[in-house]
Amino acid sequence: MPAEPLPLPSFLYGTAWKEDRTAALVELALRAGFRGIDTANQRRHYLESGVGEGLSAAYRAGVATRGDLFLQTKFTYQRGQDHRLPYDPFASLAVQVAQSLASSLEHLGTDHVDSYVLHGPSSGYGWTDSDAEVWEAMRRERDGGRTRLLGVSNVSLQHLEQMEAAHDELPAFVQNRCFARLGWDREIRSLCSERKITYQGFSLLTANPEVLQHPPLIALAAQLDATPAQVVFSFARALGMLLLTGASSAAHMKQDLDSLDLTLPPDVVQAIESMAG
Ligand SMILES: NC(=O)c1ccc[n+]([C@@H]2O[C@H](COP(=O)([O-])OP(=O)(O)OC[C@H]3O[C@@H](n4cnc5c(N)ncnc54)[C@H](OP(=O)(O)O)[C@@H]3O)[C@@H](O)[C@H]2O)c1
Repeated sequence: MPAEPLPLPSFLYGTAWKEDRTAALVELALRAGFRGIDTANQRRHYLESGVGEGLSAAYRAGVATRGDLFLQTKFTYQRGQDHRLPYDPFASLAVQVAQSLASSLEHLGTDHVDSYVLHGPSSGYGWTDSDAEVWEAMRRERDGGRTRLLGVSNVSLQHLEQMEAAHDELPAFVQNRCFARLGWDREIRSLCSERKITYQGFSLLTANPEVLQHPPLIALAAQLDATPAQVVFSFARALGMLLLTGASSAAHMKQDLDSLDLTLPPDVVQAIESMAG
């Protein structure tokens, strides 16, 4: 049975590349007001146990409870990992999924996550039998109550079309790096909106420096008494995206959350959408 739709937070706080600052930054993000956390059981880029420590500290301080939070983590194939694997590399992919999620739940101090995401398909060229095995294993984890929802990340249109042909269930989420020069991932967003998939955009700032430095966008931001970054987040939200930020400064965390109060007129949204691609 698919999970009941959950109210989703507007912003996910991303925990990549924070290493030994992970716990403190997760706690700071929750204190700042974030209620969604994105992580991965991929030690190469994430310290998931540090996320769990940050959550525990926030729970102890009464900042939030588990029930207030949307927790998302990922299954990463061995080729995306370094030697610090959260599963037995000789086990079947289905067993690797189960082991990786069990380890994530331990790291995060919870009996379920809200979203479990395939970090990336096994091949850049299409949806493979390995992906199918992993996806079916992820569905079993969901049916067993260890995640409410499922997602896929770093996917092309071809991946999604082949996935749709191969399975009777599409993901609840697609999480992609969102490049302005690709019309802000227009093709994928359009398929997502047709299939009622929530599109999560990451690297909205870091993938698009040309937009942030574009004089008309800077002028618009000044006119709105906002920063260019806030305009980009507000724009992406107007397109229907669930936003991710990896801010590490308290000031950026606040600015990012404050962008939720900024509403751009439809003609401005359209102008930004066609600015770069
Ligand atoms: N699925 C995947 O393969 C994948 C890949 C990459 C990332 N992700 C997820 O997405 C999350 C976010 O990654 P990201 O690439 O979007 O972000 P990021 O690169 O981690 O960080 C965003 C950058 O933007 C800056 N920033 C944030 N808010 C700002 C503001 N209001 N004004 C100016 N600068 C601002 C931050 O500066 P400060 O740090 O100084 O605040 C930081 O340098 C990751 O942590 C991870 O959870 C997923």
